[in-house]
Amino acid sequence: MDKNLPDKRIAVAPPRDKIFGWITGHALSLRKSRLDFMYQSFLTYGDFLEMFLGKTRTLLVNDPAGLKYVLFENAKNYPKNTPGYKRVAEVIGQGVFTDVGDDWKKGRRAIQPIFNPSKFDHYYDLISEESNKTISKMLLEKDDEFNLSYWSTRYALHVIGRSLLNESLEDSFDIISQKLSKLIDLTEKKMMNIIPWMTPSKKRDVKEFQDALLVLDTEIQKIIEREKAKPRASRGNFIHALLESPENFSEEKILSQVKTMIFAGHETSANVITWGFYYLMKFPEWQDKIFEELKSCGFQIKSEEQVENFKYVNLFLQEVLRMRPPVWSFGRLAINDDVIHGSKVKAGDLISISPYLMHHHPDYWENPEEFNPHRFEKPPVPMTFIPYGAGQRVCMGERLANLEIAMIFLKTVEKFQLKFTEEDYEMPMNPQVSLRTEKTLMGKMIRR
Ligand code: HEM
Repeated sequence: MDKNLPDKRIAVAPPRDKIFGWITGHALSLRKSRLDFMYQSFLTYGDFLEMFLGKTRTLLVNDPAGLKYVLFENAKNYPKNTPGYKRVAEVIGQGVFTDVGDDWKKGRRAIQPIFNPSKFDHYYDLISEESNKTISKMLLEKDDEFNLSYWSTRYALHVIGRSLLNESLEDSFDIISQKLSKLIDLTEKKMMNIIPWMTPSKKRDVKEFQDALLVLDTEIQKIIEREKAKPRASRGNFIHALLESPENFSEEKILSQVKTMIFAGHETSANVITWGFYYLMKFPEWQDKIFEELKSCGFQIKSEEQVENFKYVNLFLQEVLRMRPPVWSFGRLAINDDVIHGSKVKAGDLISISPYLMHHHPDYWENPEEFNPHRFEKPPVPMTFIPYGAGQRVCMGERLANLEIAMIFLKTVEKFQLKFTEEDYEMPMNPQVSLRTEKTLMGKMIRR
């Protein structure tokens, strides 16, 4: 019972869909634009909402005490086995991101050592090397106009490859990024499709999904096979940790865990880097601040600790994560009846949590729509800044992600001035499984 939640209130239900609302609930409105509908409903009806996807009841919890209750205090009643995570599992399989119960515990235990603090000197070196390589490659480009979405994805995938798999993923880059991207698009389409019968367009999507998945799985299986063939002395990465784990993971489980890390570790970071480039162009004064701080240390970056201590790049990064959290929404399933904020929760209800909505809550963030990294000079109210989630399922890659993202911002600003290709450019959001930019981000990169 929610004895720790002081305020008793009833979840408010926004008006249901027009005409078919008695069958669809809010599904049609959500399908039109999930983020817009959730955000507008929150602004209009408050931070505790009741929505229906057909007959399935969803409670949208968007206040610190409610989130603390679901993610910490009674987390055991709210595991991850939601329809949304089931859809994600169709792409990445059942791994540490999607598993629940004992399977999740075993996976997390086996994977945890790769994020051990002792590994971070090594990761720092790799990230430093990969960011230098990326910048050198960009410096060689003839044109000033860059496809920044491409460069972000390329860098993020290389960092994951190098740090977890000892491979740059150079040869597999196109296949992995294109197929994952295709699968994510199709998954989003599936999630929002409420027509229960097969249509010709659905059939086409199923075929496309299966084909893309086969190509992706084959490519990743090749990486696993290469690792298996390596002599004992050169083993020691993430795949070997799984292969040699006392848990005796099946081949399928290993494939899922590797796909999970590639997916969780690059799609998210790549989106933050792309949005970061966008905000650097929109607010060039932040390029100057980051550049001046770098100049004050003679453009010498030598350790992770030093990266963490740069003031401006970290304020900037936090504000990008607040404005555009890549995991903008995630869910939980109530397995037993419960009470949240005085409202009854029934076993089978879904709980919807949105870092995006929490990060834009006007009670906790002054002018939430304004991009203002200085706001992070004061620590945020606990549970109001949750780009990496919270509780036992909190992101495993937070430290790695912060390091790789801050590093590429630093190195980019050191060598280039970034400018929009057209004036007053506005980039709309594309809230899919992760929060992407609506269009490919292009930018002018003027060498300093
Ligand atoms: C800016 C980058 C990233 C963001 C914003 C992010 C965000 C998140 C969030 C919000 C969750 C929790 C989802 C939930 O509770 O339902 C999560 C889980 C996870 N993330 Fe990240 N992530 C990022 C980068 C990474 C990286 C680089 C890796 C790996 C190298 C990674 C690996 C994972 C894993 C394995 C989980 C599942 C943990 C579990 O369920 O036990 N993430 N991430």
